[in-house]
Order: sequence, then C-alpha cells, then structure tokens
Amino acid sequence: MPTLETTVDGLKVPNPFVIGSGPPGTNANVIGKAFDEGWGAVICKTVSLDAEKVVNVQPRYARLRSRESGEIYGWENIELISDRSFETWIDEFKQIKDRNPDGVLIASIMEEYNQDAWHEIVGRCEETGVDAFELNMSCPHGLPERRMGAAMGENPDILEEVCGWVMQVAKRPVWAKMTPNVTHIEDPTRASLRAGCQGIAAINTIRSVLGVDLETLRPEPTVEGYTTPGGYSCQAVLPIALRMCMEVATVIRDEFPGRTLSGIGGIETGRDAAQFILLGCDTVQVCTGVMKMGYRCVQSMKEELLAFMEHHKFETLADFRGHSLPYFTTHADLVKRQAEARAAKKAEHDKKMIKADAEWDGDDFVDQTDALARG
Ligand SMILES: Cc1cc2nc3c(=O)[nH]c(=O)nc-3n(C[C@H](O)[C@H](O)[C@H](O)COP(=O)(O)O)c2cc1C
Repeated sequence: MPTLETTVDGLKVPNPFVIGSGPPGTNANVIGKAFDEGWGAVICKTVSLDAEKVVNVQPRYARLRSRESGEIYGWENIELISDRSFETWIDEFKQIKDRNPDGVLIASIMEEYNQDAWHEIVGRCEETGVDAFELNMSCPHGLPERRMGAAMGENPDILEEVCGWVMQVAKRPVWAKMTPNVTHIEDPTRASLRAGCQGIAAINTIRSVLGVDLETLRPEPTVEGYTTPGGYSCQAVLPIALRMCMEVATVIRDEFPGRTLSGIGGIETGRDAAQFILLGCDTVQVCTGVMKMGYRCVQSMKEELLAFMEHHKFETLADFRGHSLPYFTTHADLVKRQAEARAAKKAEHDKKMIKADAEWDGDDFVDQTDALARG
C-alpha cells in the first residue's frame, strides 16, 4: 500500500496537500477546519505588522466560466493581504498550535523594505510556535504600490537582500513564494536560494484583466465603475504553473540540490498534483480549488493520488518526484531526435525490402510483404 506521508525541510506531513495562502487560511476557525479535514499543512493568509494600511474593496473577485458546462476555470482577485491585526494573528497562531500540535502551520508573511520590520515579524511569529515561513514576495496588486510583494519579487537584488534579512533570524524553514510576472523565474529563484531559503513556492497569481462587461462597458471586477489589474488563478493557470515549476525544479536539481519546491496554480485533483510532483515538487498547494469545492476536496485528491501511485507501483512520493523532469530539452534537440528516429525507421524498412526472390525470409514474411506494399 503506497503512502502519501513525506518529510519536507524537516517538516513531517501526512500528505503533500497544503492549503495555499488566501481565503482558505484566513483565520483560526477555517485553519482548524482544514486540519480536521486532513490537509497535510496550512499556510495562513499573508500577515503584516500593520494591518491598518490594508484596505480591501468589494467586489474583489471576477470569474470565467466554461460556455458549455458553466464550470469556473479562471478567477481574478484584487484582494490584498490579511486586513486582520497582527496581535489577533499572534493569538490565533498560538491557539491553532495548542489545538493542533501535530498540524504543520506555515506563516505567510510580508513587510516593507525595512530590515527591522522583517526581523520583528519573523521573531514574533516564531514565538507562537509556527512551523515554517512562506515569504510573500509576489502579490501582484495593491502592495507593489508600497514597494511590497511583487515589487520585491520582480527584482532579484532586492529579493536576495530581503531573504537574507529573514535568514539572519529565522530558526524555522523558509520558502520564498515567486511571482510568475517575470520573464525568467530562474533569476528570483536563484536569488532566494543564494540568500539561504530552504525552499521555493511557485506560483502566485498572474497579472490579469478578467474582462469587460459588454452592457456597462466597464472592466471587471468593477468597483465604483473602475478596476485595477488583479491576479489570475484556478484551472486556467495550471499549464503556466507547471512550466514555471519545471524551470524552478531544474535550477534546484542543477545548482541547489536538496532545496525544496512547493507547486501551486490550478490544482484541483490528485492527478493534477501528480503532474507537479513528477516535475519535481515536494508539496502542492491549493487555494482557489478550496474556494470552489470546499475543504473536503482533499479527500478525493488524496484518493486520486494514491490510485495513480498504485497504478505505477510507486510506494512513496520520492519514487516519482522529478521523474518527468529529464524529458525536457531544446527544440533543436527535438529536431535532431526526430531526424535520427526517422533515419532508423527507414533503415529498418530498407532492410525488410526484398530485392531478389532469394531474400524472402519465412520469419519476417508479413513485414516483408507489408514493406513491398508500402514501397
Ligand atoms: C482570493 C485570493 C487571495 C489570495 N491571497 C493571497 C495571499 O494573501 N498571499 C499569497 O501569498 N497568495 C495569495 N493568493 C495566491 C494563492 O495562494 C495562489 O498562489 C494562486 O491563487 C494560485 O493557486 P490556485 O490556482 O490554487 O489558487 C490568493 C489567491 C486568491 C484567489
């Protein structure tokens, strides 16, 4: 019987399914619910020291649906990080750890470009017993105006400096969460790993404009008639997330062996998760999927992942982690491989072509007849 249990950066989790930072980890009640339903770990909604600066609007979501089935496959949000006070979060981190001593609780944190602020937020969260950190260097809207989130994640030099401040004080594992809104995700990946972060999480949402309402002629989500570009998530982003995880995993394999990767973006099933693990992820995160399907969806995800493992006779996640990574190459190499394969096939065909009656061979008779039919 295969097992989903795994240990990542010293954190022992019952399965690789992690609640991604966002509404599904927005307070102690819902985080408790996630542990009750069997999630492997929970990352809280991103917290900062001064929540008074965080002012949300409504509506802040807009969704794309399939024309045929009506199912939601694309989701834009212009939601900011948590608007709940840091003191409240500190109390709730303690409560959550008291009630779920074995549950792995990861604090998602974000601060301004200020070393003391980063030292303070890490130190005060650690005192509550949180198990690890995820650095939100990637929120694409609202926070960059304060030079936070994606404003840091898009600049490898600043990213390396800020991750370095965190690593000066953090005693627990630290994952840096990448923005996909860059040309080469390898650059911020290297910067964070050079600074000493144990892992990378990829990806945050993709900067987007979901659409324009053809009645009101206003872009969505419309707030008092206006909008601002937001972050795109859900099923539609999965292929982009897979590509970026492949690129991050390649950097880890070739330059930083032993560091870890948490994959995110459009994961809704155990078979989606299997693909991220095949490309080198240690864990997988789900955010929008939980908003669509509820916390219980982890049950079917676990069953589907186990069924995939049984089918291939994999006993542990390590048996197939990164298995599909070596099958990426350059386009020029694909052309070379195809030319070689075609030449080999032609040689085989030519070998079977009968040029004189004496060459007929009883063993390959059907192939030889076929070759003569195809010429
Ligand atoms: C409504 C909403 C709020 C989010 N808030 C945060 C956040 O506070 N911090 C963060 O790091 N990521 C946040 N995210 C990004 C998700 O954690 C995740 O990276 C992204 O949505 C892609 O994964 P998904 O398709 O499973 O949602 C948010 C996403 C959504 C949809």
